[in-house]
Parts: sequence; C-alpha cells; structure tokens
Amino acid sequence: MRLAYGCMGLGSAGSAPTDEEVDRAEAAVRTAYDIGIRLFDHADIYGGGSAEAVFGTVLARNPGLRDQLEIQTKCGIVLGGAENGNAYDLSREHILASVEGSLARLGIDRLDRLLLHRPDPLARPEEIADAFDVLRAEGTVRGFGVSNMAASHIAHLRSAVDQPLEVDQVELGLHHRDLIEAGVLVNHPDARAYAPVAGTLEYCTDHAITVQAYGPLGQGRFTGRPRGPEDEATAALVRRYADELGAAPEAVVLGWLLKHPADVVAVIGTTDPGRIRACADAEAVGEAMTRHQWWSLWSAARGKPVP
Ligand SMILES: NC(=O)c1ccc[n+]([C@@H]2O[C@H](COP(=O)([O-])OP(=O)(O)OC[C@H]3O[C@@H](n4cnc5c(N)ncnc54)[C@H](OP(=O)(O)O)[C@@H]3O)[C@@H](O)[C@H]2O)c1
Repeated sequence: MRLAYGCMGLGSAGSAPTDEEVDRAEAAVRTAYDIGIRLFDHADIYGGGSAEAVFGTVLARNPGLRDQLEIQTKCGIVLGGAENGNAYDLSREHILASVEGSLARLGIDRLDRLLLHRPDPLARPEEIADAFDVLRAEGTVRGFGVSNMAASHIAHLRSAVDQPLEVDQVELGLHHRDLIEAGVLVNHPDARAYAPVAGTLEYCTDHAITVQAYGPLGQGRFTGRPRGPEDEATAALVRRYADELGAAPEAVVLGWLLKHPADVVAVIGTTDPGRIRACADAEAVGEAMTRHQWWSLWSAARGKPVP
C-alpha cells in the first residue's frame, strides 16, 4: 500500500482532546485502516501536540491496534522559537526530549520511525548521529528518516549517521511538482526555481530512501476546493479522467503521483471518511492511467506544456 495517513488535522491547537475530537479522529483512523493504510504520520508540533494526544486516546480505546500500525513522528521544529516565528533545533538534547514527549502523548513505548522535520543550519551531524544511536540502543525508535531535505542535506547527514535514513518526506503532488520539474527542466531558465531540489528524487531512488509525499491532494485544489481560476482547468481534466477510468477524482490526483517510477508513498491528510475512501484505489488508477493522461494532467497543472 503506497498510501500513508497524515495526522496533522487531528486534535486542536494545544488543548486536551474532547470526546468529539477523539470520535472524529477514530473515524478517520478506522477508515484509513479499512482501506489498507498501516503507516500513520505525526509530528510533535501538530496541533501543538494535540494530534499525537488524540491519536494516543484512539489507540487506548482500541487495544491491539498499535501493533498493527507503523507509527512515525517528526522532531526539530520549535514553534515560536524565534522572536517573530519558528526555529529549527536538531541538537541532541532537543531530539531526545522531543521523542520522550511524543511517546508520552501517543501512550506508546516505541516509535517505528523518527523523521527530522526540517534542516537546522546550526545542527552538527555527529550530534544527530549520537542521538539516533541512543534512541536505537534504548529501543525507543526503530528507524530514522528526514523531511524537507534535498539530496545534498541527506548526503551530508549520511556521512556521520550510521543508522540508515529510510525516508525523505517532502511536499509533492500534482500541485507541487518541484522534484519532478527539476528532473526535466535541464538547462532551461525555469529550472532556477527548482535548483535546490535538483537530483533529490534520483538520489533517494539510488539510495533506497522512500520519498513520502505530503500534501498529495493539494488540499483539495483539483477535487472541489480550487484556490483560484487556474486550478479549474486541471480540476476539469481530473473529473474527465475520473469518468474515463471509473475512479474517484481524488484517486486520479494521487494516481498521477503514484505512477512515477520512484514508488512514492502519498501521505494523505483529509479527515473526511468519504474522501479517505475516495483515495483507496489510487495505486491501481495510476497504473491504469495512460501516458497521454499523465502528461496532459502535468501540462494542465503547470499552466503550460513542457519545453
Ligand atoms: N513534513 C512536513 O513538513 C509536512 C508538512 C505538511 C503536512 N505533512 C504531513 O502530510 C499530511 C498531509 O498533508 P495535507 O493535509 O496538506 O495533505 P492533503 O491530503 O493534500 O490535504 C488535506 C487537507 O485538504 C483538505 N481537503 C482535501 N480535499 C478536499 C476537498 N475536496 N474539499 C475540501 N477540503 C479538502 C482536507 O480537509 P478535510 O479534512 O476536511 O477533508 C485537509 O485539510 C499531514 O497530515 C502531515 O502528516 C508534513
């Protein structure tokens, strides 16, 4: 199953979960489970910690569920960590303290994977390596990965970290195609915008690092919640191909991403059970999608054909 469930929309900022929030989260988790999803994605900061707390209550309500799931979370963003915004902290102390907090909120004793949420320019790779070794040795974290990192960041980290980096989670989908555009716009003026991520998809494929795509539904841009008139043309094509392929529009949007040979895992974030179910066949829809449909969706979303 190349779908994961993103838990960012569960819970509510900072407060203790209400029964209604837990019911809503349980319905989303159950639906995701029913369509075959086993990987659940968190971060220490989602809902100021309340997403993990709500999920922990769902696990407590459903004995035996935890062992059927793969649970990953992220650390490294400090909300309000600067005078006028957030900061990133990948120091040893911060990583260890963050994992302790996540385990307590989730009510579990081990994470299946920990991701570094964003690159921290003050971080020392040896410190990260040390934190990973401690977590691995004490059994609180089984596997490791990164998020929002380009190939150069990952290569730099790998020079110090002994644990395999299994995942890079990045924004990727029909609405945000940077990693794919970067691989095509070689020697083209438009390539400058994508230069920082050039080669990331290829690097991950070559080093057995799974690319997890966040925001893969584009927050509904092409399936009922357009952000502007430019989304409409793509949405119309998505509807047409949904009819032709006998699929839900959400599965067409995700199918476009899953057809890519990098074998991306799409981390869907809708909390609506109907929309979660609409994603179920995405992988098969990607396989059934013709090259003509795939290139037409890409051209529509980018607003102009490839060079
Ligand atoms: N690593 C990172 O830096 C990072 C950053 C952001 C997110 N993430 C992860 O990726 C996951 C998914 O991200 P995402 O939530 O942006 O992805 P998404 O699946 O593209 O979008 C889901 C959001 O869009 C809304 N939506 C989708 N289709 C809709 C429609 N047809 N009509 C109205 N609303 C619609 C959903 O609302 P409803 O719930 O009402 O359906 C939900 O708020 C997150 O949960 C998180 O785990 C990671």
